Amino acid sequence: MKKTYIAAGLLAAASLLSVSLAVAEGAAEKPVHGEYKDWRVLGVSHRLDKKYVRSILGNDVAINAARSGKTAPWPEGTIIAKLSWKEQTHPNWPNAVVPGEFAGAEAMVKDSKKFAETGGWGFAHWEGTKLVFNDKEKSATCFACHMPMKDHDYVYTAPSLQ
Ligand code: HEC
Repeated sequence: MKKTYIAAGLLAAASLLSVSLAVAEGAAEKPVHGEYKDWRVLGVSHRLDKKYVRSILGNDVAINAARSGKTAPWPEGTIIAKLSWKEQTHPNWPNAVVPGEFAGAEAMVKDSKKFAETGGWGFAHWEGTKLVFNDKEKSATCFACHMPMKDHDYVYTAPSLQ
């Protein structure tokens, strides 16, 4: 049951992103979201250790690949975004964990030639609307932790598109 609430909450959050964007435009302290704001949901996750909730979104290439089951490997041009929020309980429903403060957006960009050293993936993050690629050292840290998923092209998220 709890899982359902989390998933429902996150999906709602993802679809409401564009709404919160409109609100954010007038307020400098609110985060500005990148191109992923129009992307679709690949999955959701809840990090019990770090107390974050996440929405995993894909660009068109990623969504088409996921829908046709062609993710081994993910095609060139795939971009997967991971949006994180601090978790909080819903003020009107304490059993529901929902997104709180926005905690950032990271990306994996598939370009096998350019990023051959890190499994064909460029590791990046958004600073406002700008996608910034991480330096070699930071990318190596990202890649190391994605290594256990080698047999799934280094991607943890199993698309939930049913
Ligand atoms: C401590 C291990 C760890 C490190 C370090 C790490 N990741 Fe991940 N990453 C994960 C796990 C586990 C997931 C699955 C979903 C989650 O945690 O919310 C994930 C998911 C992702 C996703 C969504 C696609 C997928 O694989 O499911 C992106 C994008 C991503 N990470 C980017 C990065 C970037 C960029 C860095 C480096 C700045 C990074 N990660 C570093 C563990 C890690």
